[in-house]
Amino acid sequence: MFMFDKYNRRINYLRISVTDRCNLRCKYCMPEEGIKLLSHKDILSFEEMFEVAAEAVSLGVTKIRITGGEPLVRKGIIDFIKMLSQLEGLKELAMTTNGIHLEKYAEELAAAGLQRVNISLDTTDPEKYKEITRGGDYHAVIRGIEAAKKAGLLPVKINCVIKKSKTEDGAREVTALCEEMGLNIRYIRWMDLDKGDFSEVDGGEGGKCSICNRLRITANGLIKPCLFSNLEYDVRKLGIKNALLMAVGEKPECGTNNDVGEFYNIGG
Ligand code: 5AD
Ligand code: SF4
Repeated sequence: MFMFDKYNRRINYLRISVTDRCNLRCKYCMPEEGIKLLSHKDILSFEEMFEVAAEAVSLGVTKIRITGGEPLVRKGIIDFIKMLSQLEGLKELAMTTNGIHLEKYAEELAAAGLQRVNISLDTTDPEKYKEITRGGDYHAVIRGIEAAKKAGLLPVKINCVIKKSKTEDGAREVTALCEEMGLNIRYIRWMDLDKGDFSEVDGGEGGKCSICNRLRITANGLIKPCLFSNLEYDVRKLGIKNALLMAVGEKPECGTNNDVGEFYNIGG
């Protein structure tokens, strides 16, 4: 099966946000005081998420990325990966994580069938890291990266958020670290969803509307056809297949702005 939208883009990539919770509070992502969390009854069970994934794959999705919040803070994530990895037709299964818990889980994730990880890192200075993430342990991330490499979650990709350029302070050091450790790097311009201020991801496919192949689902079951739009289709209200098809049918040609969602609940 193939899904095409109105602009003839083939939609074959689903990003699943499994939780809006996170063990960090990155300045560009969350307010210091934390967020109004989704209530547990609103969050899809892993069984429900699996049904969505299975339907999406049967409709033509070939790539799934697990995001958050921080996906590794949700209990049962390893078993969820195991279930997903058995979906026939799914070719790529990846995760975006802050890396803090990778030291603990990389091996199990790989054994469960996860293929790759993207890890967020914007500086190599432990003090700055603590400041940007409001308390995170830089050394834990480095140990997480090593664990991911050792477990074969390759190539390990680093997401580096930049203000203006890839040669600014912070980004330069992360670039050097990636060369040293054999990691791929993607530079992501700091974005403001509300203002519709978005841009292409350097080294990645994000932000290029004309070739966008993505759908997203939030932890509470809203299918979002575009990060920079308020459109959302509730799988519990509309039914899974219907919500997926409506989202594809209404996927905007290009994003404008989003004032109903944030990175921590849409998963970037
Ligand atoms: N701008 C750009 N990227 C962001 N992320 C979170 N908030 C923002 C933002 N405001 C991205 C980071 C992180 C991923 C989980 O989400 O790249 O790696
Ligand atoms: Fe957590 Fe990622 Fe947001 Fe940082 S960017 S607060 S690690 S979800």
